[in-house]
Amino acid sequence: MQYANNILETIGNTPLVKLNKITSDVKAVVLAKVESFNPGNSVKDRMALKMIEDAEADGRLKPGGTIVEGTSGNTGMGLALAAIVKGYKLICVSTDKQSKEKFDVLRAVGAEVIVCPTDVAPDDPRSYYSTSKRIGQETPNAWYVNQYDNPSNALAHYEQTGPEIWEQTAGKITHFVVGVGTGGTISGVAKYLKERNPAIKIWGIDTYGSVFKKYHETGIFDENEIYPYITEGIGEDILPENVDFSLIDHFEKVTDKDAAVYTRRLAKEEGIFAGNSCGAAVKGLLQLKNNFNENDVVVVLLHDSGSRYIGKMYNDEWMKEQNFF
Ligand SMILES: Cc1ncc(COP(=O)(O)O)c(C=O)c1O
Repeated sequence: MQYANNILETIGNTPLVKLNKITSDVKAVVLAKVESFNPGNSVKDRMALKMIEDAEADGRLKPGGTIVEGTSGNTGMGLALAAIVKGYKLICVSTDKQSKEKFDVLRAVGAEVIVCPTDVAPDDPRSYYSTSKRIGQETPNAWYVNQYDNPSNALAHYEQTGPEIWEQTAGKITHFVVGVGTGGTISGVAKYLKERNPAIKIWGIDTYGSVFKKYHETGIFDENEIYPYITEGIGEDILPENVDFSLIDHFEKVTDKDAAVYTRRLAKEEGIFAGNSCGAAVKGLLQLKNNFNENDVVVVLLHDSGSRYIGKMYNDEWMKEQNFF
């Protein structure tokens, strides 16, 4: 018999799928690492389980404890699956910008969800950063995960995602392209790949309204770069410790409209029903296509599934309201 002992054992080993139509005018081979194949439908299952295992190992998370995290949904889903299997309670703190579907899904897998306003400064007591920290401190036997600064986040990708990509491309990968939020995915994968071959280029996809690109290029944390935006999962108004800027060769910004349009194109042209940051990643890659030659092997990581964006990027009325058609 072949079976997993529980759902957590099915995390990882996601497929690498060649993109064809959407990348038809790109000289390189473009391969998508489709992370919606994880049981929680996103790459974040990997780091959620790793953060919990490491916290159990050093006693930060104790039996019967409560896990508290500020999450836009995908990390929450990964934490929820692990909490169910391992017997913990989970409180997810999120923002009112996120898709309603994400909250419904989290509640379906047993999490308590607290929604905070998006348009307040990170140090405002109402922000989701401050609220999740406070709940972590006030709740008995609680552990505050803090995916932004928790080193187990990037470590999960150094130990799993990076080696998978290296092996699946037989070491032929030349460029890795991925959206950046907490920075765990890009930093962990980049560290592994650059150790194997320092010539591999690591390109992070950023949004307009985020501080990453300017900080990377100038060393200046410019508050004028910060304003509300629509793209979900990438870009930040803080500098998470998990973003290792020294491993990233370039940041490329993609507009909200392009991210939404390319999310839909991925579904229609490749049959890959992926999330909003995946459209941003593919569009960012296309913006950089003049840098590729015929021998290049480009891997773009697609973070999550389209099912979480049915009411937004995959909804015609919503697209019209945003003037995205
Ligand atoms: C949909 C989506 N895209 C991209 C990211 C960014 O990944 P990372 O936090 O590893 O930088 C996240 C993380 O929250 C996400 O949920």
